[in-house]
Amino acid sequence: MMNMVRFVFMMTAIVALVSCKTNIGARSPLSIGAGDMHKIIYYATLAGSSHNTQPWKVEVLGDREIRVFADTTRALNVIDPKKRELYISLGAFIENLDLAAGALGYAMEVQVLSRSERTACVAVVALERVRPSGFDLHSLVVRRTLRIPFHAADIREEEVKRILADDRQTSFFAASTAEGRFIAKQTLSAYRQQSMNRPAQSEFARWVRFSDRDVHLRQDGITTAGMQINGIKGFVVRNFFKPVDAEKKQFVQAGIQKTEKQVGNCGGWLVLTSPDNSVASWIDIGRRYERMNIICTSLHIGFQPMNQIVEEQNFLENVQHEIGKSGKIQFVARIGYMIEIPPPVSPRRPVDSVAVFYK
Ligand SMILES: Cc1cc2nc3c(=O)[nH]c(=O)nc-3n(C[C@H](O)[C@H](O)[C@H](O)COP(=O)(O)O)c2cc1C
Repeated sequence: MMNMVRFVFMMTAIVALVSCKTNIGARSPLSIGAGDMHKIIYYATLAGSSHNTQPWKVEVLGDREIRVFADTTRALNVIDPKKRELYISLGAFIENLDLAAGALGYAMEVQVLSRSERTACVAVVALERVRPSGFDLHSLVVRRTLRIPFHAADIREEEVKRILADDRQTSFFAASTAEGRFIAKQTLSAYRQQSMNRPAQSEFARWVRFSDRDVHLRQDGITTAGMQINGIKGFVVRNFFKPVDAEKKQFVQAGIQKTEKQVGNCGGWLVLTSPDNSVASWIDIGRRYERMNIICTSLHIGFQPMNQIVEEQNFLENVQHEIGKSGKIQFVARIGYMIEIPPPVSPRRPVDSVAVFYK
């Protein structure tokens, strides 16, 4: 009898542990009674960033000005030596700043500083009191990256139009077209090349947060839940894997297999281009990416940036030649219908660790 009780207890504990899909401490909530500026920064921090590095810092001057800085200690020097993705991430942060400020009744004017004006400060944002825009802040909370296979059904034309809005520098390629198949194939090959590159593997391993303890401590990086390793596998990875295991052959192979499923299961590809390689253009790309990700979420369309063809120079040249007619390719994302978009799981550092408030 005692053995039976023990067995049932053990099974219940295992099921409870295994079914826990998210790493604990994924996101610190908005503190109760927070002022408008604190709220605006909080919503901005929910933006996406490459490897979830969150390379932003801000200084807030009363309710008049926000200075946005690049935290270059968080740069990905191997896969992003020119800091292009770092500035795209800052652009996503600025887009959320703008949307959140509007919802709370502030108009924002962003001045991206030129190279000669720039120190670590990348942009100065001036705020002015206006009527709230009516934008729903919840849409910033539910936006996320999804790394599971999507439905391969075509994206409806009217929804493609809503995603692109009036953006003439973004192209959409349905997965079933020759271009869509080309991007899928190139993305998989570029992913394979990058995942075999030792320095890129080590850099990724530095941003991997397998255990709940690491997630809780660092509140950044790519977590087990973020990689959508759930169930029994998730339990094993959270509890027994160390970051160096991300460099092991078995893990790398599993990543390649997962990528094969991802590229083969989507409705299509968004390719964002810009006229040049300036910081201002990269910030603009980040703003456009974040906006599209938010719109896709509202349409039950899953969204995954897949940027290996931009990061791996030999692939970029080829892909640019084949599909980059509207400008320099800066950002690629796979999109596709989902029955439901699950809640976000990727952690964020709290406002007080990224912002300094001055009266
Ligand atoms: C510039 C940039 C590049 C990214 N590249 C990839 C990528 O190649 N593959 C991927 O799965 N996610 C990519 N992401 C998504 C980030 O990993 C994701 O935004 C981050 O982990 C936070 O998760 P969240 O978007 O769910 O909040 C990229 C994001 C940005 C801003």
